Amino acid sequence: MNSLVQDARKAGARVGLAGDRLTIHGGKPLKGTITVRGAKNLVTKAMVASLLGETESLLRGVPEISDVNVVRNLLEVHGVVVTEPEPGELLLDPRNVESAHFAEIDAFAGASRIPILFCGPLLHRLGEAFIPDLGGCRIGDRPIDFHLDALRAMGAVVDKSYEGIHLTAPDGLHGAMIELPYPSVGATEQVLLSAVRATGVTELKNAAIEPEIMDLIAVLQKMGAIIQVEPNRVIFIEGVETLHGYTHRAIPDRNEAASWASAALATHGDIKVIGAQQQELMTFLNVFRKVGGMFDVDDDGIRFFHPGTPLKPVVVETDVHPGFMTDWQQPLIVALTQAEGVSVVHETVYENRLGFTDALNQMGADIVVHKEGIESVTRRVPRRPLEQAAVVTGPTDLHGADVHVPDLRGGFSHLIAALAADGTSTISGVGIISRGYERFLDKLQALGADFVLED
Ligand code: EPZ
Repeated sequence: MNSLVQDARKAGARVGLAGDRLTIHGGKPLKGTITVRGAKNLVTKAMVASLLGETESLLRGVPEISDVNVVRNLLEVHGVVVTEPEPGELLLDPRNVESAHFAEIDAFAGASRIPILFCGPLLHRLGEAFIPDLGGCRIGDRPIDFHLDALRAMGAVVDKSYEGIHLTAPDGLHGAMIELPYPSVGATEQVLLSAVRATGVTELKNAAIEPEIMDLIAVLQKMGAIIQVEPNRVIFIEGVETLHGYTHRAIPDRNEAASWASAALATHGDIKVIGAQQQELMTFLNVFRKVGGMFDVDDDGIRFFHPGTPLKPVVVETDVHPGFMTDWQQPLIVALTQAEGVSVVHETVYENRLGFTDALNQMGADIVVHKEGIESVTRRVPRRPLEQAAVVTGPTDLHGADVHVPDLRGGFSHLIAALAADGTSTISGVGIISRGYERFLDKLQALGADFVLED
């Protein structure tokens, strides 16, 4: 049984997914109201940040997703006491941080990339850190060279072995001048979590400025950190000796909100997403509107619905914030299979994030992937050697098929396609979807979807 299936089953089991295969009877518009809670890509990092505090931290808006469980387990093997005062809350007590055996770290890290972000906090608390081989969605090589270069610049000693990477900081971590070759989210978080308690000032250039980064900076500032965000992706971090715990409500998950919006479009549906926030979805909403999607913003969320008229094709380039997020393209491409004309999606962030379209073509879509990308004079985002492009010709009738989930966002797009398709589909490996979509089956039920979960 390959590791993906094992991961899927384990991930699914942890958040109560009692099966791994979904049978979907498609053709019904999704209609109703659902709620999104804290962002997976912030909550997991805020949990790690609690290691930097001398006292307890309280995190609110925590979704029931398996990535949260992975980080919780990793914190607990390092001696952090984690409790749940209320549903959706985590109380994190780091007062007795201790080192963990690499086998334990490896066992709990599973399919996650988060262990890399434990480096800075553990180097500050214990003077050493260990990182097993990292997992994460197979959407590219996903190297960690920017992370290790930044840690070395701050005084860390990096030893690679077949078990993983062992880091020490004999003289402690110190401030440094760091320029990222690309505005990497992970590497920016690495520098933030390492520099806040380093000796001296760190200047980080070409930093990522995603809303999740800004929310992590808010968490660290609540802990006592001094972080100055300048124009042009420059961040200054003045190290302090100690930090204390925080109390924080995580920003809502804009990636989940955008996914349900695309589901509404692809199924001719009407979905109110409570918790969706306009200011974090500006670029998505512009593209949604260009395709013909309708939306109403109000105080507690956004309603997304199909216009009832034919959808229009678009050209989209994924990019770092405030550009169009790479995590939004998979669900949107399903809707673009229903647009009247030719759409082009340039994937510029990851080199292998269009594989999920094979299953959509199996279901009747007409998508051609250009592995070298497509040159175009109208490009806004600087061309990257790793990019690829998908040319989507629509509208085509989608029909049921048996498909397997390749990764988190690709898996959600398969769900949408099966719901939009005529006939019956089976989707295996759905446990992976619970890594980032809280209670997605309950939400599908609430939206009137017709499905059965099988073992
Ligand atoms: C974060 O991944 C998110 N994951 C991703 O979401 C998201 O797609 C990505 O940021 C971009 O927004 C989490 O927050 C857990 P990067 P991360 O470092 O930090 C290259 C989802 O579906 N790079 O910004 O791993 C890298 O290969 C996930 O929720 C290096 O070359 O992304 C990629 O091409 C998927 N060397 C680009 O930078 C490095 O050391 C962007 O990666 C680091 C990154």
